[in-house]
Amino acid sequence: MQKILHYVLAMMTLSIALGVQASGKSVYNSLGCSSCHGIDGKPSTSAYPTLAGKDAVWLVNQLKYFQFGVRKDPTMNAMVPIVAGYEQIIADYLSKQ
Ligand code: HEC
Repeated sequence: MQKILHYVLAMMTLSIALGVQASGKSVYNSLGCSSCHGIDGKPSTSAYPTLAGKDAVWLVNQLKYFQFGVRKDPTMNAMVPIVAGYEQIIADYLSKQ
């Protein structure tokens, strides 16, 4: 009984961990970020910056700067309203790629 309980708890923890990973990825993909920044933040052209492996705090800050207009880029200034609320989850995902 103890063993089964332990197993169930371990699987639940694992699925929660994987779920967080998957939803950062799914948000990134469903918001269309991948169309420019590439699969997993690795763009196929140098026209768009690589986001994979960047520091999560730095990524969140860049998204905020675009939102506040502190950082100006017509494309990203237009993109950031739909990112609102998802900055951290996207940044966590990208930082681990
Ligand atoms: C239509 C193309 C396009 C799409 C779609 C797009 N971006 Fe960008 N993104 C850019 C360009 C171009 C830049 C570089 C802007 C600059 O030079 O300041 C950029 C810059 C960034 C940066 C700063 C990176 C750096 O190295 O300075 C982040 C973070 C970022 N984008 C995140 C996102 C996220 C998250 C999404 C999805 C919501 C997204 N972008 C969608 C084109 C795009």
